[in-house]
Amino acid sequence: MNSETGKTALITGASSGIGQELAKLFAQDGYNLVLVGRSDEKLDRLGEVFKSNYGTDQVTVITKDLSQEDAAQDVYNQVKAKGITVNVLVNDAGVGLYGLFATDTDWEREKSMIHLNVLSLTQMTKLFLYDMLARNEGKILNLASLLSITPSPLMAVYAGTKAYVYNFTQSLVNELKDTNVSITALLPNATDTDFFNKANAENTKITDELQDPVMVAKAGYDALMAGKPKVVPGGLKNKSYEVMAYVAPQEALAALMRDKMSQKPEPEEKEPTISLAWGIGFGIAVIAGIALTIGYKNASPYDKVRYKYKAKSAGDALSNTLSSVFDKVAHSVVDAYQTTKGKAEKFAHKEEEMLEEATA
Ligand SMILES: NC(=O)c1ccc[n+]([C@@H]2O[C@H](COP(=O)([O-])OP(=O)(O)OC[C@H]3O[C@@H](n4cnc5c(N)ncnc54)[C@H](OP(=O)(O)O)[C@@H]3O)[C@@H](O)[C@H]2O)c1
Repeated sequence: MNSETGKTALITGASSGIGQELAKLFAQDGYNLVLVGRSDEKLDRLGEVFKSNYGTDQVTVITKDLSQEDAAQDVYNQVKAKGITVNVLVNDAGVGLYGLFATDTDWEREKSMIHLNVLSLTQMTKLFLYDMLARNEGKILNLASLLSITPSPLMAVYAGTKAYVYNFTQSLVNELKDTNVSITALLPNATDTDFFNKANAENTKITDELQDPVMVAKAGYDALMAGKPKVVPGGLKNKSYEVMAYVAPQEALAALMRDKMSQKPEPEEKEPTISLAWGIGFGIAVIAGIALTIGYKNASPYDKVRYKYKAKSAGDALSNTLSSVFDKVAHSVVDAYQTTKGKAEKFAHKEEEMLEEATA
């Protein structure tokens, strides 16, 4: 029997991403679970999977939108009413929002994000921590972010909420230092979950370097169990980001993050379009050349002089127009046209000589 069997972990945001991976780790270690989220259907299904895969004894689902006023108090009341003791609290539920603060983002979404990421997390901590201290036993994991310690243009309010979570958690680490209750902040870099899609940030450069939510959850779980104050998952690379965040000037960090948060460049125009234009241009030039040659052959000497003048003017006009519109394509069309025109002129010149010879 696992030493944690019979203990209960309450996890918000367990329906997907990092929270779901964390819930799986608790289930594997024999914890009973209280899963809190907006979708009871998803959480019920997850509970069934944990029961059949890991033999989880009790899974309690509490359906709650944590962006609503006093949602945390409702969750706490329901837990108390069911007689459940929460040994571990995981405040994972959180959302982001992408865009320029002044002009792009919607205040209602920002308000609800602040409520979820900050107010509910704080109230959940207050309510369950009080009981943990009374028992002098318990653990809390709060989802912060690497953005907690760097300014983040285009995700300004989100980064602000995560800065709060990190600072709040580290302050409580000190307040709890002489107790058997620990609190841990998890600071992941960009992670491969539905987070960026939901935040309208799916096409940003930062999404090119997403890390694995399984690795992130495991690092958070291990740090929580060890009672560490914080953890930055992802090895030396993310550790060096953390160190840079402490020593680099804020302006430089903001510029770096602005670039990472900017949209990926549009893919280049495809080559076949140019090839097609070249083909069409060449075809037109050949047909025009043939028509010119036939017309020229049957014309009188006077018309031939006129045609030569018109052909030259038309060639010049065509060349001018095309060169300003399609660069490469225009050059090929004009070249082909000039070659054909040159051949027609040569042919006409020969005919004139023959005519002169015949009339001499
Ligand atoms: N992904 C990253 O790059 C990254 C990096 C650093 C930190 N984080 C943090 O990690 C945490 C988990 O995010 P994730 O990446 O795993 O994203 P995710 O897959 O979108 O998970 C977010 C979770 O929060 C829940 N949630 C959202 N709004 C809620 C609400 N109003 N009430 C209750 N639950 C709500 C969602 O459940 P429902 O939508 O089903 O209700 C879902 O379970 C967040 O706090 C996020 O800020 C993420």
